[in-house]
Amino acid sequence: MRFSDETLLDIMQRFRRELVSGLGRDTNPTASLKMLPTFVRSIPDGSEKGDFIALDLGGSNFRILRVRVSHEKKQTVQMESQIYDTPEDIMHGSGTKLFDHVAECLGDFMQKHNIKDKKLPVGFTFSFPCQQTKLDEGYLITWTKRFKASGVEGMDVVKLLNKAIKKRGDYDADIMAVVNDTVGTMMTCGFDDQRCEVGIIIGTGTNACYMEELRHIDLVEGDEGRMCVNTEWGAFGDDGRLEDIRTEFDREIDRGSLNPGKQLFEKMVSGMYMGELVRLILVKMAKEGLLFEGRITPELLTKGKFETKHVSAIENKEGLSKAKEILTRLGVEPSTDDCIAVQHVCTIVSFRSANLIAATLGGILLRLKENKGVARLRTTVGIDGSLYKMHPQYARRLHKTVRRLVPDSDVRFLLSESGSGKGAAMVTAVAYRLADQSRQ
Ligand code: GLC
Repeated sequence: MRFSDETLLDIMQRFRRELVSGLGRDTNPTASLKMLPTFVRSIPDGSEKGDFIALDLGGSNFRILRVRVSHEKKQTVQMESQIYDTPEDIMHGSGTKLFDHVAECLGDFMQKHNIKDKKLPVGFTFSFPCQQTKLDEGYLITWTKRFKASGVEGMDVVKLLNKAIKKRGDYDADIMAVVNDTVGTMMTCGFDDQRCEVGIIIGTGTNACYMEELRHIDLVEGDEGRMCVNTEWGAFGDDGRLEDIRTEFDREIDRGSLNPGKQLFEKMVSGMYMGELVRLILVKMAKEGLLFEGRITPELLTKGKFETKHVSAIENKEGLSKAKEILTRLGVEPSTDDCIAVQHVCTIVSFRSANLIAATLGGILLRLKENKGVARLRTTVGIDGSLYKMHPQYARRLHKTVRRLVPDSDVRFLLSESGSGKGAAMVTAVAYRLADQSRQ
């Protein structure tokens, strides 16, 4: 699981080639990277204003936000938000039930904010791969992560949500944009830093988007300017191109997942799987008598009992006592040496994640550099996601490795708090401004 820089540079080149395949008309259908056009062409220009609602579905929380963008001297953004539960039976039940739930939560939110009689423009952050031909449409290609509601794949999620809202009949909404969480993150950061042209999520899942030259996006008409492309890099390796670096633990995770054979890169790096990867390694070590004097308990053998937040806690200050606490809860009676070894395993798994993401991000940076034809790239990357934010060492390791792999660059990493939801409101605000201009 530990890679030399040479291997990372090799992965970076593989990723860059996959990126190009995904963009080409003839190569796209078989490419592992879908490179989805998002119909977002520009970042906010500072003249947007208004009152918007944003829905954020598909990350670790389902969140609804009210975002007010105003202009006193300077553009300012005010936000209020609420988190709603999405129980597992809703994520895995029928699509109708899922969208009824979303519509019900939106109704509750509008009621609480006394805006049920208004028809506010809504931006929908939907953190799954969607095929789009315009901003306010998104056909779900496939569920990823924890979701698997029936009857949604192949459907336009904007239509499904509109239908659920109409059926209720107690409020009106105008869904103006559906955006991936990476795009939302890029847009939020773009609001503060005009140089932002990449958005990354490292959370439950992982993914990135960036601004590509329109002339290179075969699937969209037009040659002038740029468009944001959702790479869906979680699917990197789905065509077998990462087999040399996948381990027995990665294969086991995949076999036990909701989507075997898919999102293989995501399963090696993201928060939904990291704790489980560590658990599988600990089980193997215990079975070989290398840990816990060979003690194996039902808890240690239970899927999901070791979580990614535990990895973060064990790598934090006082990590050894945390390790003791967490392992004791699993009933394995750890010695101090056991705790040190487990801490080591956590570091190896989380370091691998940061290194792999540094390689794919490096691939995007190289691409931007080539597109611009500059000797040195100066750019900003907007980032969000629970793993990146909560793990004590992750961000630092990622930044350092990226800078080593792409030396001719000045990269600024910008954390975007609730970026994905706020970003959907920003996309909506831009769409609203443009629609307004065309009406006048
Ligand atoms: C998964 C989804 C992708 C999303 C990412 C982060 O990879 O397929 O659309 O951006 O998770 O939430």
